[in-house]
Amino acid sequence: MASITLKNVRKSYKDSEIIKGIDLSMEDGECTVLVGPSGCGKSTVLRLICGLEDIDSGEIYIGNRFVNDVPPASRGIAMVFQSYALYPHMTVFENMAFALQVRKLKKSEIEERVISTAKILKIDHLLHRRPKELSGGQRQRVAIGRAIVRKPYAFLFDEPLSNLDSALRCQMRYELAKLKAQLKTTMVYVTHDQSEAMTLADKIVVMRDGLIEQVGTAMQLYNTPANTFVARFIGSCRMNIFPVSFVECRKNIPVFKMPNDELICGPSVEGVIFDKNCCYHLGIRPEDVDIMESAIASDMHVDNQLQGTVVVSENLGGEGYIHVSLKNGLMISLKAKKTISEKSGDDIFMRFERNKCYLFDQNETIISGI
Ligand SMILES: Nc1ncnc2c1ncn2[C@@H]1O[C@H](COP(=O)(O)OP(=O)(O)OP(=O)(O)O)[C@@H](O)[C@H]1O
Ligand SMILES: [Mg+2]
Repeated sequence: MASITLKNVRKSYKDSEIIKGIDLSMEDGECTVLVGPSGCGKSTVLRLICGLEDIDSGEIYIGNRFVNDVPPASRGIAMVFQSYALYPHMTVFENMAFALQVRKLKKSEIEERVISTAKILKIDHLLHRRPKELSGGQRQRVAIGRAIVRKPYAFLFDEPLSNLDSALRCQMRYELAKLKAQLKTTMVYVTHDQSEAMTLADKIVVMRDGLIEQVGTAMQLYNTPANTFVARFIGSCRMNIFPVSFVECRKNIPVFKMPNDELICGPSVEGVIFDKNCCYHLGIRPEDVDIMESAIASDMHVDNQLQGTVVVSENLGGEGYIHVSLKNGLMISLKAKKTISEKSGDDIFMRFERNKCYLFDQNETIISGI
């Protein structure tokens, strides 16, 4: 086990800079999950850590060891790819044993490691088969097993579950979470899947365009996203974010105007002086918006109420999403924890607590989370 540290790491391909100066500390035994839009540089970061690519500048440490010039095979890192990259002509046993044979470990030691790892991953009955005789999930376990037997300082996972169907993915996510607790080895894990990130991560790193936007636990990112980009990225359905202008403060409660002059209250924030000439952004998560039977008399300083027309309703059985067009032309999505009866074209009333709102300044930087 070892920590991994990146200091001001940069990488360009030809004349375009892909990684633009990244500082990141991944603690010993911790699982760090990298998320971000396609092309933001997640896989590149993994390739730089394990040495498959050289960095242009900066420093990489594995434990206390400076590894910039250390070849991949000597870095003690195991990488598991989305494409399992198994050797097709070898059996499961041979695939798992290969790296240990290259290292010239004793035969008995190799057998012990392969068999005990295969048992953990429940593939011990498949050791004589070749990859083509396995299901996708079984192949993925072999790829993970091949990494485990090496007893690396750290595992790097690049979307290891994205080729699996959703049921198997869910099961493997659970298995990986158990494995993480069992192995206590440093892991760096890239995924597009929110549930995987939230389940496995001790720490989530949100990347955009070769830079890190924010690092934190799942709940830190959910409750206090650094900016609207992270706010929209974290959460199972994108946060609703409205451009608003400041009107006045009523007893410490900021009141804003939506684009059609509709008034909406924001969360109380201490020590912020709002400017009438600035644009702000008010965010509310779909899970915090409720449907009402009809408009009700209520104190607008507690509840914001909106009316709109359903554009699309997605019924998932027991829960679902409704996407609604507001009178001001903006869209709002809400998550309902019930079977949805609202249909496209229905007019509905919604409400949400002002204290569940997130507030961002004109640069889309957070002023107040929840
Ligand atoms: N060998 C290469 N030569 C030139 N450009 C490259 C090379 N490898 C990656 N890139 C570019 O670097 C950028 C980052 O790629 P990377 O594979 O790290 O993205 P990613 O965040 O893993 O994306 P995805 O989620 O789609 O896997 C992309 O714009 C990609 O086109
Ligand atoms: Mg990638």
